Amino acid sequence: SKPLKLGIAGLGTVGAGVVRLLQANAQAVTHKAGRSIEIVAISAKSKNKDRGIDLSHIQWVDNPMDLVSHPDIDVIVELIGGASGIAYDLVCAALKAHKGVVTANKALIALHGNELAKLAEEKNVPLLFEAAVAGGIPVIKTIKEALTPDRLKRIGGILNGTCNYILTAMAKTGCAFNDILKETQELGYAEADPSMDIDGFDAAHKLAILASLGFGHTIHFKDVFVEGIRGINPDDLRYAKELGYTIKLIGIAQQHHDERIELRVHPALLPCDTPLARVDGVTNAVFTEGEFSGRLMLEGAGAGEGPTSTAVSADIIDIARGSTIPMWGTDWKELTPATVVSRNEF
Ligand code: HSE
Repeated sequence: SKPLKLGIAGLGTVGAGVVRLLQANAQAVTHKAGRSIEIVAISAKSKNKDRGIDLSHIQWVDNPMDLVSHPDIDVIVELIGGASGIAYDLVCAALKAHKGVVTANKALIALHGNELAKLAEEKNVPLLFEAAVAGGIPVIKTIKEALTPDRLKRIGGILNGTCNYILTAMAKTGCAFNDILKETQELGYAEADPSMDIDGFDAAHKLAILASLGFGHTIHFKDVFVEGIRGINPDDLRYAKELGYTIKLIGIAQQHHDERIELRVHPALLPCDTPLARVDGVTNAVFTEGEFSGRLMLEGAGAGEGPTSTAVSADIIDIARGSTIPMWGTDWKELTPATVVSRNEF
């Protein structure tokens, strides 16, 4: 059958990773997708930067919007990032032009998921975003596929690798917050604006998406209570350890018996012998608790080239196979102030 033709927007860590993976595993990917996957065109900031990938057979376009008007492209892979601006315009334009979209952009989905899902449904094209939550951990597939018969009561976990790395390193070395932040920026995990990580917004974006999918509600990022890790110092971690605890930035979404939803991201004391407390470094962990499925925890790389590009490529393969499951219900109810549990009840 015909190849699936891609236009990729953005060639940073994840974009370059997707090209590398699809090229390195072309044969296996074709076999699993049932047809070949062809990168027709790419739009990114600098063409000549050495990324160690072969771009010779790929068309280069300066304006990402040209990927949408390109007659040969079936699917736009948006890896630019940012909740508004180019990424938002590109995804809207792609869906309007009846092109499928794969994105790793959590801020975009956390803020505009509902509107974009409606547009995708109206145009009858897929909009997939596995890589938007916890990079390489297949959590969206788990919720939408494996756990789909169940009603989830709680979802959450350690959703930001940068914060987890900083807290782990502060506990181990006793070094101050700012020195370790620099290290994480060098690792390439931190967001361009480190405030997104350390003030908890990145984790809150992910929690809003997970809670939306898990509870079948339209949950907006602004409904999540957020507190970051700026105020934690090495002494806090030392005292916590003496008492048998560790401090982690965690996100928790839970549905109360009265159907109200509690959504919060903040540093928490966890007993050292619990599974979440043992998740160290840049690793992420997501747990779910369902009526029938019980407790589940997935642990792995929440960012990084290989894991994130695996998630993006899996979405692309789903589209090639025609086996996409809508991720976002356009009939979901919106939360209202009366259905969100307020902070003073936590
Ligand atoms: N900055 C994020 C983190 C990476 O540190 O977890 C991907 O969301």
